[in-house]
Amino acid sequence: MTEDYSSLLKETVKRVPPYVPGKSVSETIAEYGLDPASVIKLSSNENPLGPSPKAEAAAREAAAGASVYPLADLRFLREAIASRTGFPVGSVVVSGPGMDSLIDSVCKIFVGSGDEVIISTPTFSFYEIAATICGGVPMFVPRKENFDIDTEGILKAVTEKTKIIFICSPNNPTGNLVSPEDVKKLAERSGCIVFLDEAYIEFADQESSACSLISGHDNIIVGRTFSKVYGLAGLRVGYGLMPEWIASEILRISLPFSVSVVTEAAAVAALADGEHVEKTRRMVSEGRRFFCERIPAETPFRAWPSSGNFIAVDVSPCTSREICDALLRDGIIIRSCDSFKGAGKSMVRITVGTAEMNRRVLDALVKAAGKKWRSSGKTAEIRQKTEIWRKTEIWRKTEIWRKNGDPAEKRGSAGKQTAFARKIEWKWRILPRSCPDPGVIFMNRKWYLPIHFTDLSGFRSIYKGL
Ligand SMILES: Cc1ncc(COP(=O)(O)O)c(C=O)c1O
Repeated sequence: MTEDYSSLLKETVKRVPPYVPGKSVSETIAEYGLDPASVIKLSSNENPLGPSPKAEAAAREAAAGASVYPLADLRFLREAIASRTGFPVGSVVVSGPGMDSLIDSVCKIFVGSGDEVIISTPTFSFYEIAATICGGVPMFVPRKENFDIDTEGILKAVTEKTKIIFICSPNNPTGNLVSPEDVKKLAERSGCIVFLDEAYIEFADQESSACSLISGHDNIIVGRTFSKVYGLAGLRVGYGLMPEWIASEILRISLPFSVSVVTEAAAVAALADGEHVEKTRRMVSEGRRFFCERIPAETPFRAWPSSGNFIAVDVSPCTSREICDALLRDGIIIRSCDSFKGAGKSMVRITVGTAEMNRRVLDALVKAAGKKWRSSGKTAEIRQKTEIWRKTEIWRKTEIWRKNGDPAEKRGSAGKQTAFARKIEWKWRILPRSCPDPGVIFMNRKWYLPIHFTDLSGFRSIYKGL
């Protein structure tokens, strides 16, 4: 038996929480015995259109020169980023592997034993990991109910030990932005480094980035990545925009040659391929609209508006595990957010895919929700603030019925249809006559839905019983 040397490990390393990645395609195929061709992976916010064909060609060409080290200062890529962003080359740091490496470097140069970093939860988990590795102590400030950051709460959490405030915009997994005004406030009032993670900023409206604040603030760092809109997640490269004094400190401690010649060439070509970026952005924006309209209309779930290439869905009363598991059985990998601190047990994150993929996801969600209903009785709880089950939902379903030649046809006007809906609900003895909003009932401080209206056979049997 060999000796146990684990006592030699640094204490800080023992405290590092594990990083929980999205499930891989091969794991899923093996676990669920699926047909590999049918599996779609929408769990890690990758680009389902793949890399730009120009980036692929550039990578192939660069591979011929793989026997030689890249330029130590990654000048080609830094210059390409500088000309695209308008920042001087001295303010650009290229990081590999990925933006993760930039987060790691920023922690290395600022965070020592006992120093604090502030993290607004729920959010990307690597900030906590990187800071803990350096001996830092993560201080968590929960976001507000709508997932906006609590700017005043963050400022109150700042102590003389605080070194970095991590902010993610659009936030992973909730998809919402942080306003440049809030970033400015944090930078000016905290006395700390503000690390603004803009991994998904290319999917948001153009004016959403706060990177222009860097020129007037010596404590703001903006992180970006080639893993998302540029479709190069497998090549692992990111970059940072920052004041030159921070850039030169990071370059001093960075691992030499951490970005390969192949990766550098692909990233330069990807930056120049505006057409691929536009195509991706268009697909994402249509997909987000599709999910945000159809999920609340066809399931009891709530889709949060998102500025990223993913959407967060509140699947209560189901748990995120139940829904992810149900979708896995249909060959669809999405992300359960239960490993994100502060995200609760009922949030899933779905990467926006192609129109065909999105349709499959929606169908699978409807199926999963239907199963849950059948097993849990006739009512389903939805969140108090959900405005999604409006009376129009009832009318819409009644319309479908009418097309099928049902007696509901005789009930022409909207007013009569409302009365019809109310009658159904009174029959179920769950809607008080004073309720202004047929279709839902407010009871015990929660909204209840009389029935899952996409289940037309259930609807029919209630109607017949009237
Ligand atoms: C918010 C956020 N920041 C950073 C990263 C890391 O990006 P990269 O792939 O460049 O390491 C991710 C990856 O998913 C992310 O979601």
